[in-house]
Amino acid sequence: MSQSDGPLSGGNSGGASPKGKGGLRQFYERTRDRLRRGRSRMQQGGAAAGEMMRSIADSVGADEWVEQAFERARGLSAPSIEQLPVDFKLRQSAWPRRLYERVFPIKHIFRMGYRLEIEFLEDFMPISNESYIGRGTYKFVYRLPWQMVIKVSKDVMGSDPIFGRLYREVAQEPDKFLKPEELALWEHLKHGRGSGARERVDHKFARLGMERYHYWKVREELPDLVLPTRFFMGVRYRQRLAGRDFFSRKIMPMDSQVLLVGKHLKEFATAGKQADQGWMGRTFAPGYDFEFDIGRFGQIKKKVLLKITEDFRRLIRFTEVLALREKLILDIHTENLIITLPDFQLKVFDFHLFDEHLYEPSLKFDSPEKDHIEVIEKFIESFDLDR
Ligand SMILES: Nc1ncnc2c1ncn2[C@@H]1O[C@H](COP(=O)(O)OP(=O)(O)O)[C@@H](O)[C@H]1O
Ligand SMILES: [Mg+2]
Repeated sequence: MSQSDGPLSGGNSGGASPKGKGGLRQFYERTRDRLRRGRSRMQQGGAAAGEMMRSIADSVGADEWVEQAFERARGLSAPSIEQLPVDFKLRQSAWPRRLYERVFPIKHIFRMGYRLEIEFLEDFMPISNESYIGRGTYKFVYRLPWQMVIKVSKDVMGSDPIFGRLYREVAQEPDKFLKPEELALWEHLKHGRGSGARERVDHKFARLGMERYHYWKVREELPDLVLPTRFFMGVRYRQRLAGRDFFSRKIMPMDSQVLLVGKHLKEFATAGKQADQGWMGRTFAPGYDFEFDIGRFGQIKKKVLLKITEDFRRLIRFTEVLALREKLILDIHTENLIITLPDFQLKVFDFHLFDEHLYEPSLKFDSPEKDHIEVIEKFIESFDLDR
């Protein structure tokens, strides 16, 4: 599992890591206070969600914008791997895993449906070990032969910080987040199963609804920065016997997205200088102060820099308001921000929102999103726009 992406990561991905001094005790006390505050907020309930849920329920049916973007992307062949924001370090697995993937390769994915009381498979998507382009803490990402990616949820424990307040809202009222067809598929997959298996199915569908909920919360505020994304229950097939048509299948929440050509924000950084940290931080969560160098990716016009600055500022404002009003942290660390090349645009493709009290606390600021914002501010400064 990748340690370099996600809320509890070490954070040599830049800025997200705990910085500054502070011993174990201080760290413990801060975390305990956060948990207390979080609990009392939760008891007050998520009132703001009502409006949002209505819009999600209305929109999951036909989403013209997504359909049109996918139609276009399906007609274009995938760019070469060199043009993608691939982080080869992130893709590396230990040798037992690599061997397993060679002997039992993944083959393809289908979207699962349920109509006329029949289980359907549609949307054939071929994948292979070679098309694996990256992963974060929660998803494996594969490039499709056309200009799209498919993201397969990883198995994570029910106690994972991602399953916070929004997850519980979905679990309580799933019909606000899932289509009637998905609700029917859910029932169908539970039918005749034991209680353990039924619980696992419940968890998968609630997770699907939660992913969609996170996406809509970001999309409502920043529609032009968000990548068109479709969430669905999918089945992934893995070949079991070499040379034979014998597959194992795994049902998982998935999403497909337009494929981005570009680089992670951190790739614009010149070798980061290790941050000034205490012994604890250096040992367990080394952080780096980033120096950005936009010149590394060619000449960029001032007009383009102004536009991307404005977009980053909107993203920052949104992140701040969300943290302040809803105590939700948008996970905008440097591997979750891609700048497209050659047109130099900011796109948001990972929409995960964490309850503030479940997110790794900042050791430098009073709220964790400020670590990420600081890195982005430094990136903008490196444009030298006042010159
Ligand atoms: N639309 C995309 N186009 C190109 N690469 C992508 C796209 N979405 C994700 N990736 C790559 O996959 C990695 C993990 O994807 P992400 O959605 O952040 O998953 P997670 O939720 O597990 O963090 C990203 O850091 C990026 O390198
Ligand atoms: Mg991510």
